Amino acid sequence: MTRVLLVGATGAVGRACLAALAADSRLAITVAGRDPRRVVEFCAGTSARPAPQQIDLAALAAGHDPGMTELVRTADVVVNCAGPSHRYSVALAEIALRGHSAYVDPGLDEPQRQRLRRIAPPDGVALVQAGIQPGLSGLALRIVADRLGGRADALIAWCGGLQPLTRAAVDEYLDSITVGSGGASTVRRAGGRVRVRPHEVSPAPAPWFPDTARSHAHLDVETEDLADAVGAHDVEWVNVTDGERTVRAIQDLQISVSGEPPSETSVDAVLAAAELDLFGRDPYFTLLATARSSGKAATFLLRTRDSYAVTGAIAAWATRVVTTLPAGIHPLRSIPDPRALSDDLAGLAGTEVRVLDGAGGAVTGHRDLVEEGVL
Ligand SMILES: NC(=O)c1ccc[n+]([C@@H]2O[C@H](COP(=O)([O-])OP(=O)(O)OC[C@H]3O[C@@H](n4cnc5c(N)ncnc54)[C@H](OP(=O)(O)O)[C@@H]3O)[C@@H](O)[C@H]2O)c1
Repeated sequence: MTRVLLVGATGAVGRACLAALAADSRLAITVAGRDPRRVVEFCAGTSARPAPQQIDLAALAAGHDPGMTELVRTADVVVNCAGPSHRYSVALAEIALRGHSAYVDPGLDEPQRQRLRRIAPPDGVALVQAGIQPGLSGLALRIVADRLGGRADALIAWCGGLQPLTRAAVDEYLDSITVGSGGASTVRRAGGRVRVRPHEVSPAPAPWFPDTARSHAHLDVETEDLADAVGAHDVEWVNVTDGERTVRAIQDLQISVSGEPPSETSVDAVLAAAELDLFGRDPYFTLLATARSSGKAATFLLRTRDSYAVTGAIAAWATRVVTTLPAGIHPLRSIPDPRALSDDLAGLAGTEVRVLDGAGGAVTGHRDLVEEGVL
C-alpha cells in the first residue's frame, strides 16, 4: 500500500484527482484541508479518510507549521492540489521532501521550481507541473517529435478554449503576468526569438476551434526547452481564449492590483464574467500540437470538456509514478515515457487523445472527433 496525503481535494483539480486516486485500491488516501467539514464531505463515498488535523497553507507559507511536519511523516507521497501554487507550493514541498515523502503538484511553475531545487534535500523527489498546461503541453511536443524520429524542424501548437474559472486560476494568471516570463507575443523564427503582432499569430484552426476563439502567441520555458531538445528552429505556441468578458475582467483586475493578492470581490467579478461567457455554450478545451520534419508531419490532439478533470487525472497518474523517479524536482515534460501518460488519459470520460499523421490544421478524416454541439 502506498500512503498518499492529498491537500486541496475540495478544488476543481483536487476533486478530480481524489476521484482518480480513490479508484486505485493500492493507495491508502488521507485528505487534509483548511475546512474540516468540507474535507469530510469530499471524502464521503470514497476510500479516502479525513486527516486528524486541519491544515491552513497560508499559515504554513507565512512560517507557522500547523501540524504539517507531523502529518507528512504518515505519507509516502504528498499531492498538493491546493492553490494558488505560487503562494503555497514551495512551503509544502519543502516540508514533504524534508520529511522523506515524495511530492506531486499540478502547479509550481518554473521560477518556483528553480526555488525549490535550491532548497530541496539532495535525496528529495518531486514531480511538478503535473497538469494539462504546463505538463501535457510539453509532452505533446515530445510525442509528435518522437513520431518523426525524435527531431523536428518546426513546432506549432494551439491550446485552450472555453472553461469555467477557479479562484486559484485567476490568482495564478495574475501572478504569471506580473512576474512575467518575457514570452508574451513571442515566437521562434529561424532559431531566434521574435516579437509578433496580434494579426501575425496563427489563428486557431477549424474544425478544432470555433471562430470565436482568439489566439495569443506565448513562448514559455517549457516550450523552449522542448524545442531545444528536438532541434526546432521555428516554433509557435498559441494560447487560445474564447470568452471576451473574461478577458476584459482580467484586464481590469490586472490594472487594479499590483503584486498584492487580488481582493475576493475583484476575483468574484472575473468568475462572474467567466460564467456569463459560458452561458448557453458548451465548455471545451483543445490541445493541438504539430511537428514537421523533412516534409513529414505528426499531430497530437487532446479534446476535453473539462481541463480540470484532465489535470486531476494527470496529478493522480504522477502520484503513481513519482516514487520510480530518481532524486530531483522533475517537471512533467521530462518523464521517461510520455506515451504511458497519454494512453492512460485516452480512457478518461469526455476526453479524446490521439496522435495522428499529418498537420493539425489540415488533418482530415477525423471529423468524428468533433462532437455535435461543441463547436
Ligand atoms: N498544470 C495545469 O494544467 C493546471 C491546471 C489547473 C490548475 N492547476 C493548479 O492546480 C492547483 C489548484 O487549482 P484549482 O483550479 O483546482 O483551484 P481551486 O478550484 O480554486 O481550488 C483551490 C484549492 O486550494 C485550497 N486552498 C486554498 N487556500 C488554502 C489554504 N490557505 N489552506 C489550505 N487549502 C487551501 C482550496 O480549499 P477550500 O475548498 O477550503 O477553499 C481548494 O481545495 C493550482 O495550484 C493551479 O495552479 C494546474
